[in-house]
Formats: sequence, C-alpha cells, structure tokens
Amino acid sequence: MPAIVLIGAQWGDEGKGKVTDQLGERVDYVVRYSGGNNAGHTVITPDGQKYALHLMPSGALSPNAVIVIGNGVVVDPKVLLSEIDGLAERGVDVSRLRISGDAHLIMPHHRALDRVVERYLGSSRIGTTGRGIGPAYGDKVARMGIRVQDLLDPGILRKKLELALREKNQVLFKVYNRKAIDVDATIEEYLEYAERLRPYIAETRVMLWDALDRGDTVLLEGAQATMLDMDHGTYPFVTSSNPTAGGACVGAGIPPTAITKVIAVSKAYTTRVGSGPFPTELFDDNGQHLRKVGHEYGTTTGRERRCGWFDAVVARYSCRLNGVTDLVITKLDVLTGLPTVPLCVGYEINGKRVDDMPMTQTDFHHATPIYEEHDGWWEDITKARTEAELPDNARRYIARIEEQPRLP
Ligand code: IMO
Ligand code: MG
Repeated sequence: MPAIVLIGAQWGDEGKGKVTDQLGERVDYVVRYSGGNNAGHTVITPDGQKYALHLMPSGALSPNAVIVIGNGVVVDPKVLLSEIDGLAERGVDVSRLRISGDAHLIMPHHRALDRVVERYLGSSRIGTTGRGIGPAYGDKVARMGIRVQDLLDPGILRKKLELALREKNQVLFKVYNRKAIDVDATIEEYLEYAERLRPYIAETRVMLWDALDRGDTVLLEGAQATMLDMDHGTYPFVTSSNPTAGGACVGAGIPPTAITKVIAVSKAYTTRVGSGPFPTELFDDNGQHLRKVGHEYGTTTGRERRCGWFDAVVARYSCRLNGVTDLVITKLDVLTGLPTVPLCVGYEINGKRVDDMPMTQTDFHHATPIYEEHDGWWEDITKARTEAELPDNARRYIARIEEQPRLP
C-alpha cells in the first residue's frame, strides 16, 4: 500500500509539479494536503497549452488519477470553480475531483484581513500572497472556521458566518477602517458555489484508506515547502500550514505507517518569495543571472523571486525533518554559463562553524555561508537525459551535493 509524499525542500517553487508529472500514470490518487491558492504551478495540458493551477494539485493532469483536495487545505470556492472550468474547457476530465468536507473555506473576510493586516505591518510584513490563507487557518485553529461541508447546510452556514462576522466586521471597521462584509450577499454567493461543488464533496479519508488497502498508489503532493512550514520554517516568515511530510498525514487523514517514500524537490540553487532570512541570497550579477535565466518570477503574484546559491544546511535540515528517501534536483541548466558555481556547505555564526540549522532565528539571520567554489560549464545541458550526458563540471557539482552529510 504505497503512499508517496512529495515535498519542497526549500522555500517553494522547486518544480514539484514536474516531478508529479514524471510519476504520471503510476499514480492512482493525487492528494493536496495543505495550503490553498497561495501555491502556483504551471502545467502543460494534454493539447500542449500552458496553464497555471493554484488550488488543484498539478497531478490533476494525470489522466487517470482521482484528484483529492484533503482536509488540510483551505479552499477558496471561487478560485476552485474557475480552475474546474479552466481545466474542463481544455478537455481535462474533472469529474475525478473529490473535496474533503472537512477542508476549511476561505471567506471574503479572510481575503480582506490578509491584505489590510499586511499593509498595517509595513516594513515588518510577511509578504503574503494576499489570498486569505493566514486568516483562514487562524480561524480554523481558533475554532471559528467555516468548512466545505457547511456549504451543504444553509442554516449552519448562515449561523457560522454571522458568528464570525460579528467579530471580524468590528475588526475590519473599527481597527482597520474598512467596509464591513455583508452577511446576506456572502451567503447568496456561497450558496451558488455550493450547488456547483456539491457533486465533488466527499468523505475522502475512507476513500484513501480503501485505496491503500487495495494497493493503489496515492501521491500526497505538497504545496509550499519545508522552510515555509508553520512549525519548522523561518517563523514568522512562513505560510500558515504544515507543508512538511508530517503535515501530509494530518492534512490527508492517512496514517504515517502508510508512507513508503518521501521525495524532496530542490533547485540546484535557491529562491524565495516574500520576506524572511535567506543566508545565500545574492544581490549581484549572479543573482540577476539566476532570476533571468531561471524565469524566477512568481506564478501566483508575479513578484520577482529572491535568488541565491544552493544551501546544503537547508537541504540537510529538510532531508532529516521529512525523512527524505529521494532527492530531486531541478533547474541545473540555469547554472550553465556561470564561471564559478559556489555551493554553501555550512555557516559561520558568531565566529563558529555550524553544519545544522541554528536554534534561534537571530542566529539564522546572522549566518554567513561557507562556500565551496566549483568551476562552471558552458555546454548546453537542456537535452541531457542521463548523468553521462552532463559535462564533467556539472557532474562534479551534483556529486558534491550528493556527498553532503545526511542527504539521501
Ligand atoms: P508553491 O506551491 C513560494 C510564501 C509567500 C509568503 C509566505 C506567506 O508554488 O511552492 P501566504 O500567502 O502563504 O500566507 O504567504 O509564503 N509562499 C510561497 N512561496 N511558493 C509557494 O507555493 C508559496 N506559498 C506561499 O510568498 O512569503
Ligand atoms: Mg509558487
């Protein structure tokens, strides 16, 4: 009963969708277990069109897999419906979609609060995607969230929304000087979504347990990444969920003992969107090279991504934290044409060499990377499909990553 977890080992945008794609037809179920439409993956539809997905797993394109949105996801129904329509228009069969009734809904007050709170934070802002993710998870934990199953009971939906807005409208109006959210208009809007989403809402846990009992392959497709994890990332510059492998069990409702493989994806360098510490970040021409050649602009918000060298401390942390069995390195070709390719193998913090993530965020902020310099290569490697087809210098660089302690 193989359950495979796929996670990002850095700060997101590692190319997780590409790996899902390669697992392709061997996957019977593809499940999203955390986050919401803060994620962004560009997929190529069967007829060759490029299309950006935010809420649906990128495995939605695997022709036979059942697509599952697990209980750990926060669902903006408007975004979900537009993705359903977008895929259907492109000839993708969306009748395979199942949404957990326990997933939480992103409501208009979540979106409003996300944006206004960021504005008030000023230079201390997180740099969120502004999609209401943090406020929706906040309400979930505070036990005042509204769930997908509430769409099926108009009486409950109204009761819960009235209760939530009793507080949130005061905050929006009195603290942030914003317009209050109208209960009736919101109910009307969400009941329309309810009618369209009804056929997809299901008890996804039992469905996945049965699948695992039959020996089907279930892919738990992570969005975001290890360093954006609420508990294990660079808090508070994180997303409000648990994208790590442990989060896959909670967010999909499958037991830890069902997991047979954890695949981590990492770029051959590093990127990050939004605020927060990033020891190997570059502010020079090399950073420009990575951004330009790697097309490092956000799929969700269009923001420039911050770029830097590969960080083995982060890689080691991710591999140990997630119990990684397989590490995939993406976008090696972006490094082509650089005279030297430095690899961060440790940090210096307050005059001491460290190989593991420091305990405090303050120390992480003060970490100076220790680099190993590698000679670059100029040969075009975009067509290389085997290790043997890579130039010696590229092969040596990858080998040095492999040799880092405690990587799989
Ligand atoms: P994928 O799945 C990169 C970042 C945001 C911000 C922080 C919090 O494409 O790898 P949020 O809106 O989640 O409250 O924002 O997290 N962030 C991502 N960065 N890739 C993502 O997803 C991200 N999802 C959230 O930029 O810094
Ligand atoms: Mg992204």
